[in-house]
Amino acid sequence: MNTLGFRVIWRMTTPPGDGQMAAHARFRTQNLIAGAWAGSHTGRTFAVSNPATDEHLADVPDCDEKDIARAIDAAVVAQRNWARMPAPERAKIIRRCADIMHDRIDDLATIMTLEQGKPIAEAAGEIRYAASFLVHAAGEAERVYGQTIPSSFEDKHILAIRQPVGVACAITPWNFPSAMITRKLGPALAAGCAMIVKPAELTPLSALALGDVCIDAGVPEGLVSIITGDAATIGKAMFADFRVRKISFTGSTEVGKILVRQSADNLQRLSLELGGHAPFIVFEDADIDAALDGAIACKYRNGGQTCICANRFIVHRSVHDAFVAGLVERSRALKVGIGTEKDANIGPLINDDAIEKVDRHVADARAKGATIHCGGERAKVNGGADRFYQPTVMTGITREMVCWNEETFGPVCPVMVFDDEDEAINLANDTEYGLAGYFYTRDASRLMRVAEALKFGVVGANDASPSTAQAPFGGVKMSGFGREGGHFGVSEYLDTKYVSWNVS
Ligand code: SIN
Repeated sequence: MNTLGFRVIWRMTTPPGDGQMAAHARFRTQNLIAGAWAGSHTGRTFAVSNPATDEHLADVPDCDEKDIARAIDAAVVAQRNWARMPAPERAKIIRRCADIMHDRIDDLATIMTLEQGKPIAEAAGEIRYAASFLVHAAGEAERVYGQTIPSSFEDKHILAIRQPVGVACAITPWNFPSAMITRKLGPALAAGCAMIVKPAELTPLSALALGDVCIDAGVPEGLVSIITGDAATIGKAMFADFRVRKISFTGSTEVGKILVRQSADNLQRLSLELGGHAPFIVFEDADIDAALDGAIACKYRNGGQTCICANRFIVHRSVHDAFVAGLVERSRALKVGIGTEKDANIGPLINDDAIEKVDRHVADARAKGATIHCGGERAKVNGGADRFYQPTVMTGITREMVCWNEETFGPVCPVMVFDDEDEAINLANDTEYGLAGYFYTRDASRLMRVAEALKFGVVGANDASPSTAQAPFGGVKMSGFGREGGHFGVSEYLDTKYVSWNVS
């Protein structure tokens, strides 16, 4: 590490100049707190390593309440000035953040692949996706409109105005280390809020790299802090401070429930994007090739470690065999490998717990009678840790199997058969989760009927990649509440106030 708190990555596995890897990428190893790079006040750190190889990447600060308090103090002051700044100027700064992300895409993608494991091309895709949230939010900053409302009294006018909630906090996951930050940060800044970002302990380096992006784009000092450390300690400190008025969390349902309880004392607003268990229905009239393309893209995105990825394939009996044959052929064609290798399609699972969960789900299905058509075991990867899993297709899935009831979060396709539309809808809705659901059909009437019947916040109708910065992303039921994206996302950071104006 040098004195500026960087660790330069000179030991890249792929030679520079191939357009894929940034040999000069560097890790920030300090936190952005109150406008300056700093360690934790205790000097404590924790280690970050590469899930593909177990290589030690960096040590980052293990912050606690005292560090958080400094960030909040600075955020309160910075937010007041930021909210006063004309919206077009705020928009310009937010847009500049996106431009810088594009300029640094190789570095940012490299950092992401090293700490998270996803293939480098996918990491670059995530950087573009992450930047798109900033671009869209910048536009929304200029469209935070209020309303005038007709009053029942002739001497009164009612004005409804929308104002920033104040200081907000983002608690973000390891599976999308950049996009899940900008999806919160962009709207927060657009609304006129300050934000303290607490990234996942497994992937803090992408978040810290965004700190540099913010500084270089001209984000005012103290407006954005990026703090690493133990989730429980930092979360508790955020909820304990009345000045933090909004917390947006992406992660597990289990943690989401804890946050709801913690928000009670200070009544902070929450947005929770929690677990999913997405069904993927293929009707008898579907375009099977399109459904297969969608299935592969959706299921194997980030190696299946995506909250909205297909978890349960529900396929009409008449097309079952053809769909399964195509799924197996396409799954076998995918290369499992270290994400920094150019041709890898599927990287490692994030940690040992994650791969053990996949092992358990597959073993349970096998023991209960499922047929494994491909995969079904860990993959050996040259120079890699024992954390890779083969793309797996299983049929003969029943409701008793664990994979039917729990999100696997790995590269596994369990396929169940159905006979009629009602049965497919009931099977799809047979879960407490409600984040995303998909179906393929060429029948326009069925399309609308099924879209309405599915109990999910996001429905992909002949579309397995529905995510985009303009749309109101979020779940129902145990998948949480609140929406991210578009003007819906900005509203999460705004309070509505009405002014009753006596004009007599
Ligand atoms: C997620 O897995 O939570 C995010 C996926 C997306 O934004 O498409």
